[in-house]
Amino acid sequence: MTKIKIAVIGLGVMGSQHARDINTLENTELAGICDTNQATVDKYANLYDVPGFNNHIDLLDQANLDAIIIATPHNSHPVIAMDAFKRSIHVLIEKPIAVHVQAAQEMIAAYEQALRHNPKLLFAAMFQQRTYGFWQKIKSLIDDGELGHLMRTTWIITDWFRTQSYYDNGGWRATWKGEGGGVLLNQCPHNIDLYQWFVGMPKRITGFAAIGKYHTIEVEDEVTAYLEYENGMIGHLITSTAESPGTNRLEIVGEKGKLVFENGDLTFYRNRVSSFDFIKTSTSGFAHVENWKIEIPYKHHGQPGHKIVIENFANALLNGEALIATAVEGINSLMLGNAIMLSFFLKQPVDLPIDAEAYAAKLQTLIANSRFEKVVVERDVTDVGSSF
Ligand SMILES: NC(=O)c1ccc[n+]([C@@H]2O[C@H](COP(=O)([O-])OP(=O)(O)OC[C@H]3O[C@@H](n4cnc5c(N)ncnc54)[C@H](O)[C@@H]3O)[C@@H](O)[C@H]2O)c1
Repeated sequence: MTKIKIAVIGLGVMGSQHARDINTLENTELAGICDTNQATVDKYANLYDVPGFNNHIDLLDQANLDAIIIATPHNSHPVIAMDAFKRSIHVLIEKPIAVHVQAAQEMIAAYEQALRHNPKLLFAAMFQQRTYGFWQKIKSLIDDGELGHLMRTTWIITDWFRTQSYYDNGGWRATWKGEGGGVLLNQCPHNIDLYQWFVGMPKRITGFAAIGKYHTIEVEDEVTAYLEYENGMIGHLITSTAESPGTNRLEIVGEKGKLVFENGDLTFYRNRVSSFDFIKTSTSGFAHVENWKIEIPYKHHGQPGHKIVIENFANALLNGEALIATAVEGINSLMLGNAIMLSFFLKQPVDLPIDAEAYAAKLQTLIANSRFEKVVVERDVTDVGSSF
């Protein structure tokens, strides 16, 4: 079988796992590695017997490769991707695709430009949760119209608990300059991507956030957002890295019933008739719509899913398989996260698409005014699995 030659850039918590996965898949081959930390370069170049580089330009120019996976801190994603596009090298980018919408727009414009020279150039995003059986089942139930007209989508995702030790590891984490945000940018992008994958983008967002409320950090660790949709649906996103035990409960309500996902159970309260019709036609003031409680079965592979996304990326190159997630779609989750924070900063609702320039400028001001002194305590990362 032909193997796609992929290099990994950024061999930290995530990238080191990608390198291992590439090495074990049948349709991929590790073609090189790159990290700005020379000790990391030496470690993984020796481990996999591949060329190692301490800057991405040398890797792109000198390694013999078809594609790269970018697993560096978020703010360096766009520049590395754009350097790859210039060389017609395919890109699989980690989430979030960028720190702010303006940077993502610039990167997508560069990709579209490169597509003119190579219409087969791929730009995929690592949204591995889209491969999970329960999320796919929820998406198909909504797409098939099982809930009818949607009324409310509420997702409480407060099971992203992180300790101070987590934040203290890695100088870039949880700072405006290094990371560009907190829970919305690091832990939540998967949920926010799924949210928009399920029910699309809202027209207006009102966001509330708390900065370093429970951790010594300068970015948000607790967020609540209210989302308004063109079709009348309302949404809520609630997240935190400080609740233990946390909650992960998704409720999607439509005229034809309610879907609830919590603790692995997918429950559908299916209305016998449309609640909209019932509101209009029932002669009883207190009657409820008859509903049936159905436990929806689903199949789930039970893996973290990154390996499936890498395999899909290679298959897309080898035989045109559809991508699980294009990176261009990745701008939606970024738009939602940025919009929540912009609303919080402005203390008012914001319409979408947001003013990307204004948000980028706000971020620059936060970076320029930062007085936060980060105490970095490096630790050996052994609990990779709990990172996603
Ligand atoms: N998809 C997922 O489930 C998932 C899980 C964890 C992290 N991530 C994403 O992966 C990215 C990296 O996160 P992490 O936790 O692995 O971080 P990390 O700090 O553990 O690793 C980052 C690595 O990149 C290197 N690096 C920094 N700048 C670089 C540059 N310009 N060129 C080359 N190497 C550079 C660092 O030396 C470090 O080794 C982030 O964007 C994060 O959101 C995704």
